[in-house]
Amino acid sequence: MDLANKILEHKARVAVVGIGYVGLPLCVEIARAGYHTVGIDVDSKKVNAIRHGKSFIEDVRAQDIAAVVDDHMLDATTDYRVCGRCDIIIICVPTPFTPTKDPDVSYIEESGRAVARYLKPGRLVILRSTTYPETTEKVLQPLLEKSGLKAGKDFHLSFVPERIDPGNKKFTTSTTPVVVGGVTKSCTRLTELFFSQFVEKVFPVSSPRVAEMSKLLENIFRSVNIALVNELAQMCERMGNLDIWEVVAAASTKPFGFMPFYPGPGIGGHCILIDPYYLSWKAREYDFHLNFIELAAETNESMPYRVTDRLLEVLGTNGIPCARARLLLLGAAFKKDVEDIRNSPAIKVMEILLDKVRRIEYHDPFVPELKINSRKFKSVPLTRAALRRADCVVVLTDHTCFDYRMILKESKLLLDARNAIKRRGASKLHTLGFRPAKR
Ligand SMILES: NC(=O)c1ccc[n+]([C@@H]2O[C@H](COP(=O)([O-])OP(=O)(O)OC[C@H]3O[C@@H](n4cnc5c(N)ncnc54)[C@H](O)[C@@H]3O)[C@@H](O)[C@H]2O)c1
Repeated sequence: MDLANKILEHKARVAVVGIGYVGLPLCVEIARAGYHTVGIDVDSKKVNAIRHGKSFIEDVRAQDIAAVVDDHMLDATTDYRVCGRCDIIIICVPTPFTPTKDPDVSYIEESGRAVARYLKPGRLVILRSTTYPETTEKVLQPLLEKSGLKAGKDFHLSFVPERIDPGNKKFTTSTTPVVVGGVTKSCTRLTELFFSQFVEKVFPVSSPRVAEMSKLLENIFRSVNIALVNELAQMCERMGNLDIWEVVAAASTKPFGFMPFYPGPGIGGHCILIDPYYLSWKAREYDFHLNFIELAAETNESMPYRVTDRLLEVLGTNGIPCARARLLLLGAAFKKDVEDIRNSPAIKVMEILLDKVRRIEYHDPFVPELKINSRKFKSVPLTRAALRRADCVVVLTDHTCFDYRMILKESKLLLDARNAIKRRGASKLHTLGFRPAKR
């Protein structure tokens, strides 16, 4: 039976390499669609968790994993040999950057080499990690072809960018459209056929590089617009009596041609911060400089420092020497309602403050403990006593579950870097992007 028929009859076996934020929900969705699925990961803890029907990602319910594991539709392993029995192999490994912010595609290379060992004719390999244009064809394809098989002839190869937005309850794996770009038309068609079995809308493009670039455009669009609003927030603060939050709310009433972005302590996670650097690195290969990207990065990455400066100023004007201040920081995750702390601006703020302030506590219900510069921190309970104990409370991540009324009532002094406490007028409350007029 050829792969198209196997897909249509739900007889294709699927391997998902890398079962993290992207791979795990994908595994569950594919298994629920009726395909025997196996997750492959180098992390045996994740493998064991899946095998025991446990979840390690907020958005994926343990009962959903357990249901497909109990039905023998989902399994997990650290052993790549299972690839030999799989018709479709989807690679979802990390694509971080190096300390000097160059792309690190070594995880793609490592998994590509491992998949190549078990590659057989007729199989479909899909790369889903976010990366610069040409990675599929110039990095992964040659590694897979070390098997002796040719992409587009002996096996199929495509790039399908991941758009998952952790914490987003409205758009999930199945309800978010996917873009599909194969190295040949038949690779694209086969990949489209597979994804259309469990995703509502599939958009085919002419090549993997278009799909790769489209993903980067989406994330760079966010990064540049966040930088713009972060810059305007600073202008509003400097002018005084001009509230960026009110400005964005007003502009958002335009029903076309405008999309709101909000200021904050910076950007984080595994995407918006990193992905623009992948493209600017690639551009340099062609003597091209992506100035928008560099400028946006500069502004966004300065935000944790700006928040820290504003905090020190708030402490100073209230007569609190920063070295003796006691701070309570609310939120450590990189965005609200998730437990992901990768590149979190809240943690960057903490890191900067560690040099200046001795007594720092934090609270984050999603992040029970933290290690920053070899110092360990435990999340303290968010109680009236904890709020009263602090000379200043700083909202860094606006988790929905925080009791903002209590936070405002009990804090002596408050800096809200997310406008989570949508109030103005209280003299103890300071908000990023707004300063009242000087009296
Ligand atoms: N997290 C998101 O919201 C998101 C959204 C869109 C795209 N992406 C992209 O998806 C990719 C994966 O991101 P993620 O957030 O799922 O990362 P993650 O760190 O949560 O998961 C990646 C997994 O791959 C495993 N892994 C690493 N090397 C491996 C190897 N050689 N073989 C098998 N497993 C290996 C890791 O142990 C980990 O479990 C990245 O390219 C990222 O940019 C992420």
